[in-house]
Amino acid sequence: MSSTVVIGTQWGDEGKGKIVDYFSKDAEFVVRFQGGNNAGHTIVVDEEVYKLHIVPSGVIQGKKGVIGNGCVIDPLVLTEEIKMLEDRGVPLNLFISDRAHVIMPYHKLLDGAEERVRGSGKIGTTKRGIGPCYSDKIARRGIRIGDLLSEKRLRNRLQRILPSKKELFSIFQIDEPLHVDDLVMEYLDIGKDLKPYVRDTALLLDQAFNDQKKVLFEGAQGTMLDVDFGTYPFTTSSHVIAGGVCSGAGVGPNKIGSVVGIVKAYTTRVGEGPMPTELSDEVGHHLQKKGHEFGTTTSRPRRCGWLDLMVVKHACMLSGVTHLAITKLDVLNGLDKVKICTGYNLDGKKLDGFPSAIEDVSIVEPVYEEFDGWDDFEKPESLEDLPSQAQSYLSFVESFLGVPIHVVSTGPKRDETFVIDS
Ligand code: IMP
Repeated sequence: MSSTVVIGTQWGDEGKGKIVDYFSKDAEFVVRFQGGNNAGHTIVVDEEVYKLHIVPSGVIQGKKGVIGNGCVIDPLVLTEEIKMLEDRGVPLNLFISDRAHVIMPYHKLLDGAEERVRGSGKIGTTKRGIGPCYSDKIARRGIRIGDLLSEKRLRNRLQRILPSKKELFSIFQIDEPLHVDDLVMEYLDIGKDLKPYVRDTALLLDQAFNDQKKVLFEGAQGTMLDVDFGTYPFTTSSHVIAGGVCSGAGVGPNKIGSVVGIVKAYTTRVGEGPMPTELSDEVGHHLQKKGHEFGTTTSRPRRCGWLDLMVVKHACMLSGVTHLAITKLDVLNGLDKVKICTGYNLDGKKLDGFPSAIEDVSIVEPVYEEFDGWDDFEKPESLEDLPSQAQSYLSFVESFLGVPIHVVSTGPKRDETFVIDS
């Protein structure tokens, strides 16, 4: 099978950018199928650091990048990212779905206003307009990338949409102008810049599969932020799990080959919502500092805790994960003891699966397995180069999940990675 899907198994920020970069070596196409510029992927090549939010990270390798219909695109961010890559001499082979939805300025304002109104119940969104844009898509009042190529279409859509936005602005007391003419002018201009990249990307990918090309699907966020299976309502608004590829890129399920689940060696979360293994002690602080756990997109500090295999097991089940990639193992170096959560108790009973109600997630009691820690290690090139305690940690993860570990990442650089052939 010529396709691989890479997904995050936790709350995002698992280090997907680096692993996608690694897997895209063999791919001709690298495809984003959900999310928008709420994501942030960091790729380090030699001394160069690239931070991407919407352009698929595989383009750094000179691959064909596809932004699928399931994504929401802020064209201002996209054009800036395109310019940054061009300025840095990265050849850009980019294809944008004409069906992807456009994040408009009113989406960003409404995202902020809705959060304000939620008060202490806020989600902690990235305020990039993601939720309001997906809401409009589902409510069938969105603007799609293809609409930016036709003045008539764009004007028609905006004339239909803006009256209700004006009402919302007044309810939320947003004192910003909303004029059809201004938006048409600004967004048609952007449409002109984007036009060379706009395509029916489902057709493009169908041809790629027919031609036996290798395709890599690059997930953004992580399973616990999936709108159906995550810690709802503290989730994002898209389908983050591997099944999201089908609707978000226009690809049949029979085209999905292997599914790589990225597992950070501990757990992090940004934004609000419960996280059962969160540590607010010295160890949590150590993980945050050593792991540089500050958001690529919002610079917010990430909450840190022990690896939670209830979470990762849930992700493996939902996405049919066939291989694991463990990231940031080195961040655990130097700890005296390390723990892994292997189950949850709720009201004295052991749970079989991850609870659907957020109230239950907030009060579950994690059950831990404790392991001896290990000292710093020098760039390991195989499993055998790791301290025996780190090997035990990994082999426990593998046997608990029943999924083989294929890649281990022990630092941010490309060469701080080794592969386990199984
Ligand atoms: P939104 O996607 O901006 O609506 O934010 C919803 C929730 O998802 C918030 O808790 C965000 O912090 C979280 N979130 C969104 N994108 C990412 C990501 O790429 N990594 C980690 N968390 C994210």
